[in-house]
Amino acid sequence: MTAPKKLFIKTYGCQMNVYDSERMAEALGASGYIPTDTAEDADMVLLNTCHIREKASEKLYSDLGRLRALKAEKPGLKVGVAGCVAQAEGAEILRRAPVVDLVVGPQSYHRLPEMVAAGGRQIDTEFPAEDKFTLLPERKALRGPAAFLTVQEGCDKFCAFCVVPYTRGSEVSRPVARLLDEARGLVAQGVRDITLLGQNVNAYHGAGPDGPWGLARLIRELAKIDGLARIRYMTSHPNDMEDDLISAHGDLPALMPYLHLPVQSGSDRILKAMNRKHTAADYLRLIDRIRAVRPDILLSSDFIVGFPGETDADFNATLDLIRAVGYGQAYSFKYSARPGTPAAEKPPVPSEIADARLHQLQALITTQQRAVQEAMVGREVHVLYEKPGRMPGQMVGKSDHLHAVHVADPNGRIGQLARVRVLASSSNSLAAEPLFGIG
Ligand code: 5AD
Ligand code: SF4
Repeated sequence: MTAPKKLFIKTYGCQMNVYDSERMAEALGASGYIPTDTAEDADMVLLNTCHIREKASEKLYSDLGRLRALKAEKPGLKVGVAGCVAQAEGAEILRRAPVVDLVVGPQSYHRLPEMVAAGGRQIDTEFPAEDKFTLLPERKALRGPAAFLTVQEGCDKFCAFCVVPYTRGSEVSRPVARLLDEARGLVAQGVRDITLLGQNVNAYHGAGPDGPWGLARLIRELAKIDGLARIRYMTSHPNDMEDDLISAHGDLPALMPYLHLPVQSGSDRILKAMNRKHTAADYLRLIDRIRAVRPDILLSSDFIVGFPGETDADFNATLDLIRAVGYGQAYSFKYSARPGTPAAEKPPVPSEIADARLHQLQALITTQQRAVQEAMVGREVHVLYEKPGRMPGQMVGKSDHLHAVHVADPNGRIGQLARVRVLASSSNSLAAEPLFGIG
């Protein structure tokens, strides 16, 4: 028997890429590849790329530079580029980087084994008619009791700054039956926490047995799976927060009190220029309705500062919105002009101004995040143990509100949903002591 070949995948960007990397590893597993943790040790390196901001795209070319040196020492090394840069730049990557053997877009991962077997330099950035996930092998590789499940891909919203509708294409929802099967399979293998993923996850409208199902109905069905304790979903668009999804937050105990609901800006003028199709007041009203059914929900968002035309007054409106909501955490970005998007045509805000705004916004978010974490101290919460901590006898996991929690629990085991009391809050996590296990 020949020794197995080793595969190293580097994942950039969003959770969707994390999920896709796992599925690519499974697909190549069928061709005899086993995972390894470093490029140096690998026979094949795949870079699963992100195109959302310029910095993310540039990382690809700096990594390819390093791989060129590695391939000089190890001529048999195969190098592949997957993900959204592969989709956006396609053959340009093969032209610009001779080190690359394979370019494969996010909709073509099922073809990886044949592309590798064919040898030579290969490219596939097609959008097949069929759900790519059906063409991939069954899921088996597992990394613990919390898993991602992609339910929807692509986006039809065309926010003026965003490349996603171009790189991931228009919205496609996976059929209900396949998702239920995949979720049941995960639970049978010990998964207790599933995060449903999609670029526009609450626009989900997959084919069900009696017509299309929305996200709320899918979640209600998933919640019936025995052993599945927790369900989350991301990323949502405010305009797709339907009534039944909001009510699910009030009446489904398995639906966790955490919602990532990007608003991008608090200025109506900028929201309009971004093509968001909602106002700051619409968003605030929505938050009120969600909090009315689930008062303790932890809210998260994405913000862009320095969008073309953003004035001090616009930026202050964003700070006002943040103060009005009170976020538990948030991601914030300096606007990055992306070729091919409408906003890229407009004159940019000076870089130093955008930097200063980003700094100010992040300071405000940090204050809010700390306050939300501090408020957890003394409370009893549930933690799903995902792995041992760095200290002896310590377990690490996530709370219902998605806080990372370190628990001194020598008897704790991975996959256990433990009841703990929060003792302290530090910058990025909570410390807790166990009360008693509930399974
Ligand atoms: N510049 C900066 N941030 C961006 N995002 C998307 N496109 C851009 C861009 N061109 C941010 C948005 C989105 C998140 C995933 O990335 O906030 O919600
Ligand atoms: Fe991009 Fe999200 Fe807007 Fe879609 S809704 S275009 S993914 S920012």
